Amino acid sequence: MPEAVVSTVSAIDEIIQGLSNHPAYISPKFFYDAHGSDLFSQITSLPEYYLTRTENAIMNEQGDAIKREAGAVSTLIELGAGNCRKAQALCALLQPQRFVPLDISEEYLLEATADFREKLPGLAVYPVASDLTQAIILPTHIPPERRLVFYPGSSIGNFDPPHAANLLRRVRALLDDDGALLIGVDLVKDVDVLEAAYNDAAGVTAAFNLNVLQHVNAIIGSDFSDDDWRHVAFFNPAHSRIEMHLESVGETVVHWPEGERRFAAGERIHSENSYKYLINDFINLLAENGFGRSKVWTDAQNWLAIVLAHP
Ligand SMILES: C[S@@+](CC[C@H](N)C(=O)[O-])C[C@H]1O[C@@H](n2cnc3c(N)ncnc32)[C@H](O)[C@@H]1O
Repeated sequence: MPEAVVSTVSAIDEIIQGLSNHPAYISPKFFYDAHGSDLFSQITSLPEYYLTRTENAIMNEQGDAIKREAGAVSTLIELGAGNCRKAQALCALLQPQRFVPLDISEEYLLEATADFREKLPGLAVYPVASDLTQAIILPTHIPPERRLVFYPGSSIGNFDPPHAANLLRRVRALLDDDGALLIGVDLVKDVDVLEAAYNDAAGVTAAFNLNVLQHVNAIIGSDFSDDDWRHVAFFNPAHSRIEMHLESVGETVVHWPEGERRFAAGERIHSENSYKYLINDFINLLAENGFGRSKVWTDAQNWLAIVLAHP
């Protein structure tokens, strides 16, 4: 059996469709080749990026309460697991029998899994390399009872509300009635704080955004050059979301084997949304999509919420 189970998606078609659109877009899932995953890991320790340290602080402070509310957990399933560090702490707290990290970034996932096994040698770990925008298929030997799905990092914010609703329904379908979802969600706050988090002074988020072009080059054989593009990120209050774009510095033509796209100076490729929620709206979204009972923990500034949601 392969170490990681890979789902097949036509990434090439998806990217070309986005590049041919007006305005052009690239799904944020393409940020994450191994270099992109590494850059994201660097972002998590930047002073401007309050999300990771705030989420970790809530998890540390509320560990006992989370444990009480979650009850006995037999399988911890992490969506968008990245470096799996948050799950390490959660597994140490909840002592599940097995851990199933799922991520689109296969090479990085397997490295993170190896590190995880060294740190928690007693735990069975079954990595799944797959795309959450497709069907979520777990290894068949994972028992259905007492599953806890962990979805930290406010990654749910990368989905627009209808797609977030669809994902929540698919997560619900992974659970028996004794299962639960532990999810981190970023909340609406001062625009300066939000915008600084996506425009760090060291330029790591800019490098992360630009790296998607190299990943796209590798997938579709295009000739994007970093020098032709600049990072743009701002809060869009009408949609309550941070938007990230790549803006063409001058007029440029991008070619790939069976096509091309001409960009005017200043034209943008939309590369990510990060929705920021009011906590009640998020609880309603959960309730409308299969999770009727929720317990919420936040930090003192109400910047971020951890929600334990039961079917
Ligand atoms: C914002 S990072 C969060 C990482 C980590 N969970 C954390 O909280 O620090 C998003 C993670 O989700 C993964 N990811 C993004 N889009 C995905 C998709 N469509 N399917 C599966 N994983 C995805 C990325 O590779 C990355 O590890």
